[in-house]
Amino acid sequence: MKLTSANINVLIKTCRKAAKTLIRDFGEIEKLQVSVKGPGDFVSNSDKNVEKIIIEELEKARPKYSILSEEIGEIKKDEEFKWIIDPIDGTANFLHGIPHFAISIGLEQNKEIICGIIFDPIKDEMFIAEKGNGAYLNNQRVRVSGRSKLENSIIFTGGPKNNAGDRDLSLNEYIKFSSKAFIPIRKLGSASLDMAYVAAGRCDGFWQRNLNYWDIAAGIVIVKEAGGFVTDFNGNKDYVENKNILVTNSKISEEMIEVLKQ
Ligand code: IPD
Ligand code: CA
Ligand code: CA
Repeated sequence: MKLTSANINVLIKTCRKAAKTLIRDFGEIEKLQVSVKGPGDFVSNSDKNVEKIIIEELEKARPKYSILSEEIGEIKKDEEFKWIIDPIDGTANFLHGIPHFAISIGLEQNKEIICGIIFDPIKDEMFIAEKGNGAYLNNQRVRVSGRSKLENSIIFTGGPKNNAGDRDLSLNEYIKFSSKAFIPIRKLGSASLDMAYVAAGRCDGFWQRNLNYWDIAAGIVIVKEAGGFVTDFNGNKDYVENKNILVTNSKISEEMIEVLKQ
């Protein structure tokens, strides 16, 4: 089984094309690490180039759809459909030559994400989902894990950014989860892949403050179609507005919400 709708095909073709540039640029990073200036400017150009390729491809295939993309912001067209794009999610990893980052694109219809792709070009892992038709990793159906106790779970988080207003709250949450789960908390540096890993059953729960819509858009449908829950820290649906996201295999949601409330 695999997903074959027209929008999914557009997403796959777009990601494959953009990934060629991303993989080539990642190969250059190692050389730049040793230079005095470092790869900073190179990476921000790469980010923009990848975004340009993605937008060109999407506009070619769907000229009327609106766009929200991290680097360029909004392109307003159709009211009904909108692509939500993070050209490189995990930029700090990319910059430091760590092979863990992804292209993430979701498609919104009337404010709901109906399909999405998270593509890790280095590991060649493509997570895709479409509302009502399941979530897949490289054409294999994926499901969230079955772990039902927080203490046996593997939990991911990201942040806090050093200037975040709620930095202390995040650090405090880290301490609280660390005392509940036996396995130390993971911070892998790409929110979209964190969500994709929950969908694939590799991670049982993920929480993070201050995430932007482009970090999570594709992940929302991928996690839900894999049987997981996406909520805010209270278990409600306002995670896009309040930017605090809790993603679980569904079974450990209540326990995680309890910890976040304490
Ligand atoms: C970042 C990553 C990271 C998360 C940050 C995001 P970027 O996105 O997803 O894991 O902790 O909050 O901003 O900047 O690499 O696109
Ligand atoms: Ca991001
Ligand atoms: Ca980004």
